[in-house]
Amino acid sequence: MKTHWYKDAVIYQVYPRSFADGNGDGVGDIPGIIGKLDYLKDLSVDAVWLSPCYPSPNDDNGYDISDYRGIHPEFGTLDDWKALRDGLHARGMKLIMDLVVNHTSDEHPWFVESRKGKDNPYHDYYIWRDGSNGRHEPPNGWGACFGGSAWEWDETFRQYFLHLYSKKQPDLNWRNPKVRQEVADICNYWLELGCDGFRCDVIPQICKTFSADGKNDKNICADGWFDYIRELGERSWNNYDTMIVGECVGVDHKMAPNIHGEGTGLLDSVISFDHLPWSRNFRLPRWKEIIRRWQTLPEHCWWSQYWENHDQQRSVSRFVKPGFEKMGAKMLLTLEMFLRGTPYIYEGQELGMVNIKLCPDEFMDIQSVNMLRGAKNAIARFFKYRHLLMRARDHARTPMQWDNSPNAGFTTAPTPWMKVNPNYTTVNARTEAADPDSVLNYTKRLLRVRKGFVELLKHSQYTDLAPDSRRFYAYRQTVPDDKSLVVIALFGKTAKHFSLPEVLRGHQSRLVVSNNLNAPERLSDGRFLPYEVRVYELGR
Ligand code: GLC
Ligand code: CA
Repeated sequence: MKTHWYKDAVIYQVYPRSFADGNGDGVGDIPGIIGKLDYLKDLSVDAVWLSPCYPSPNDDNGYDISDYRGIHPEFGTLDDWKALRDGLHARGMKLIMDLVVNHTSDEHPWFVESRKGKDNPYHDYYIWRDGSNGRHEPPNGWGACFGGSAWEWDETFRQYFLHLYSKKQPDLNWRNPKVRQEVADICNYWLELGCDGFRCDVIPQICKTFSADGKNDKNICADGWFDYIRELGERSWNNYDTMIVGECVGVDHKMAPNIHGEGTGLLDSVISFDHLPWSRNFRLPRWKEIIRRWQTLPEHCWWSQYWENHDQQRSVSRFVKPGFEKMGAKMLLTLEMFLRGTPYIYEGQELGMVNIKLCPDEFMDIQSVNMLRGAKNAIARFFKYRHLLMRARDHARTPMQWDNSPNAGFTTAPTPWMKVNPNYTTVNARTEAADPDSVLNYTKRLLRVRKGFVELLKHSQYTDLAPDSRRFYAYRQTVPDDKSLVVIALFGKTAKHFSLPEVLRGHQSRLVVSNNLNAPERLSDGRFLPYEVRVYELGR
């Protein structure tokens, strides 16, 4: 049933709250997305991953779901969703839904029932545990991702329930076969409706093992995980032409080959994390080494490469020095597009959107808000604030910048749900569409060029051509006895000379794409501008 279409695809991630507001209430919605389908088609992306649009109390902006089969009224109706599906399919694009089944919202009827009594049929849908040593102390030392303990005390049962994220996101109990059947049913519901796959939220964490003394408790691919994922594949995912990509928290390149890839019956692809360093810790050789590990996984593996998503700061702000945003944005996109795997573009990345400077009370994300709230004193708060100015998830969630009208054309409401980045007057889709040298027009060109190399990239072998260089990132994608691709990029704000390594000499070459209009047509030694990138096709 599976054609593995995702190996040809570039995926565009839409964060529905921030993409486009169709009804003028300040919040992005599905009709807003539908209005932008021609924009997406023109960009030539192949699929859209839609962040959660289900009913939710929005403690974590939709990653706390209270009804897996509905659409949040603020985003529209199921009919709107169907129109989105049809609009995408009519344009030859696929639709990937976000599957958030490690936890539900505490307002999901299952959890409401679960709290009613130990004999309630839904009680065992969640993870209830006694305090450690029979006392009013958390069963183990796990912390919640958004601060505090991962265990919340429930006075009625005099027990704790587990929440690896906020306390409004109780973890489901995957040991309960009924929970697993519910998840399969939910997947089948959306697949029957015509969605083309799932991005599986924090999927390695779904099952947990608890040890007698609490010291060897596990929540990453714990016992049973492989069986449960295979079971889900058999009951649902494998019976349709799906893409199943896991957000693989806690998984490194050594573990990854065991949990995904063609023929494993597990996930199709992994979204990893270790290639996204803190900006101030960024060291090019180290970064290249991490990417090399992912690029040289066994043949059956399939990476998901991305520099941005709704949880990350903007890539330009992370990797590029101020003043070089435009060149840097193009360079980063280029590096990403010629790695092996499925590349993701996060909304606005194609425009070169950057981080926003927010005041402490302008952060909206639960993680940021909790972090500032949890600061013990003014100094701690200052450092947390400084951290958030770089790292907050809010940076990715500012409204999409469509044009230079008020609120960047995102909404007609006087105030959008989240502040617009003031640089929208120059960084926006309409202005960029009219500028041949814009990041947007470069991205369009890049994606079209990439299509010509999709087959090569499916089978290519990756070599880092200058692993120790602190300024150049140069890699080659080779198919034995066939042509190859060479990508060379300069990191940093001063121009620098690149000397061709011996292996690259004496080949026929052709410039495929570059962010420097004057880049030489043939691969050669030469001076690179700050953040310049050049891609060449080489003969055998
Ligand atoms: C994933 C999501 C993130 C969310 C978390 C809990 O990491 O990407 O936005 O907060 O899971 O669902
Ligand atoms: Ca709206």
